Amino acid sequence: MIDLKEVNKIYPNGVHAINAMNLHIDSGEFVYVIGSTGSGKSTLIKLLNAEEVPDGGTINVDGVSVGSLKHRQVPGYRRRIGCVFQDYRLLPNMTVYENVAFALEVVGMSRKKIRQRVAEVLDLVGLSEKSRSYPDELSGGQQQRVTIARAIANKPSLLIADEPTGNLDPEMSQEILHLLEKINETYGTTVIMATHDQNLVDAFKKRTLILEGGYIVHDFPKGGYKSISLFNQPQNVCEVPQDAYRAINTEDLEKLKEMDAPIVPDQSAQPLLKEDGIPQEVRLDEDIHPLRSDEQEDA
Ligand SMILES: Nc1ncnc2c1ncn2[C@@H]1O[C@H](COP(=O)(O)OP(=O)(O)OP(=O)(O)O)[C@@H](O)[C@H]1O
Ligand SMILES: [Mg+2]
Repeated sequence: MIDLKEVNKIYPNGVHAINAMNLHIDSGEFVYVIGSTGSGKSTLIKLLNAEEVPDGGTINVDGVSVGSLKHRQVPGYRRRIGCVFQDYRLLPNMTVYENVAFALEVVGMSRKKIRQRVAEVLDLVGLSEKSRSYPDELSGGQQQRVTIARAIANKPSLLIADEPTGNLDPEMSQEILHLLEKINETYGTTVIMATHDQNLVDAFKKRTLILEGGYIVHDFPKGGYKSISLFNQPQNVCEVPQDAYRAINTEDLEKLKEMDAPIVPDQSAQPLLKEDGIPQEVRLDEDIHPLRSDEQEDA
């Protein structure tokens, strides 16, 4: 379904956002892309939906060489994939029905078929009752469900989502994940989702890619990823594109072994965890806090 070979993306300002990336995703997979801010998640998504063009390497999506699409071929390609973003991007002057129908009008579907299909997808996302509402009459979670309905209306084989739960509370985020899971399982739609939401990644187990500095530093198979603070701290991840993490004390080693992560012992690195297993960054906050109150007393 998706094949990236030695893909590079360098923005005009010189930032190497994606580096020598190789990635294969099978049809029907559900894959999270996680990693710290600036690690390249959105750039990867934009390369997949042809919003950005790679500077090197090849990107193949469902038989299409995405990197070499001509300008005029891009809209046709985009209609074959579904996209969902953090900021819903619904047309404010159209009703829920019209927003979804619009996506089908542009592909030339007949009115009758459009009516059937819109009813179907609105039912799937649980919004049949809201078909006459305008976006600003809906909650954030409902708006995102309309976006998902629109994205899948044309039965795409690939659905890509960049932080789809970024503006939602935990309960609504879970609803969105249930929905994406349902789409993935019911239609076999391949789903790729960039996210910051550790709770979702922990709750809905999927294949999980960790990006850092434009490299895939880890690729956990479904169910293989267990979040612990180690993975949230970029300084603990090797900068080289090796499938490995640094570990220096026995506790770290034990934790990494539990996760089946390949280990590169590095005696020069700082301990990741204190003796009681509390991550360094938590201790750091505690240390800093009294200092702040001292300063206030002096003032
Ligand atoms: N249009 C652009 N022009 C120049 N640099 C960019 C552009 N877009 C992104 N970058 C840079 O490329 C790198 C990767 O950015 P990207 O948006 O892919 O990260 P991200 O993982 O999605 O981050 P976040 O979690 O904050 O959304 C960052 O260093 C970013 O500053
Ligand atoms: Mg992003």
